[in-house]
Amino acid sequence: MVQKFPTTRLRRNRYDDATRRLVAEHKLSTDDLIWPIFIKSGTGAPEPINAMPGVSRTTLENLPRHVELAATLKIPAIALFPATPPDLKNAEGTEALNPENLLCQATRILKREFPHIAIVGDVALDPYTNHGHDGVLRDGYVANDETLEILVKQAVNQANAGVDIIAPSDMMDGRIAALRAGLDASGHIHTRLMSYAAKYASAFYGPFRDAIGSGGALKGDKKTYQMNPANAEEALHEVAMDIDEGADMIMVKPGMPYLDIIHRVKQRFQVPVFAYQVSGEYSMIMAAVNNGWMDHDRAVLESLLSFKRAGCSGILTYFAVTAARLLQTS
Ligand code: PBG
Repeated sequence: MVQKFPTTRLRRNRYDDATRRLVAEHKLSTDDLIWPIFIKSGTGAPEPINAMPGVSRTTLENLPRHVELAATLKIPAIALFPATPPDLKNAEGTEALNPENLLCQATRILKREFPHIAIVGDVALDPYTNHGHDGVLRDGYVANDETLEILVKQAVNQANAGVDIIAPSDMMDGRIAALRAGLDASGHIHTRLMSYAAKYASAFYGPFRDAIGSGGALKGDKKTYQMNPANAEEALHEVAMDIDEGADMIMVKPGMPYLDIIHRVKQRFQVPVFAYQVSGEYSMIMAAVNNGWMDHDRAVLESLLSFKRAGCSGILTYFAVTAARLLQTS
């Protein structure tokens, strides 16, 4: 395509709002949003999370009122993250298998009150282990195959409680095949698998670990299972294997620093791709906004639109409710 100035003036299509809307290539919609929610046990008011201004841990009692915000705005899905009380954590993360754990209780409450909102359940052991790792440690190493067996039980436990979409974030090898087989064997053939296929060992999870209270506990780092930020080819390999093993949806995480990965995955594979705009990305934007350095509404919508441009079907974002409100009025 060669078009010469002055016959061609690309600014013509930017001349007014009507024309700009007509030629827009991508669009963010409320249908694209998944809202991650932090939950804690007990009653009373939500507890603010220092590192994430505007985000709080919601008690079970307050949960329906909280999720009502998403329901009213017709946000299609929420993702639940439990802040497990320290006395329920142990080396094997057994609380993950308790049918009465926080996540299962929350799911049952929400499925009763809001049957049309899809619940995404994170599968990994870090909210439940006292060492903060996503699996069980053997000689200081997260043991892959033993962890798989526990993750399958964790997923079935969540599906039994009513979780619609199982989202393994643990990065163990072979988990998608194991989870699909385990869910099918227990009758959950419709439970969807959204794989955190390309999940990087990232500094941008910092505020999240504070939010669920696993940060202080984490011994070492997660580099033996989460991906090296230097690698892109390897992400395609991870995604190929997960699709082969039966993943229904693929996720790339973090989001904004990895838009290139999203784009490459979408070009190569014909599957729905999601991004997780993680805690650190949220906090970064909020920090700038709270210092008066950026416009909140524009920064939020622009950051989310970038995921659509890169090829995402949807985005997990702490801005989901804010964005849905903005989309209603824009
Ligand atoms: C845990 C998990 C993490 C996040 C989602 N699931 C943190 C980690 O891997 O340490 C991060 C989400 C965020 O930062 O917003 N398996």
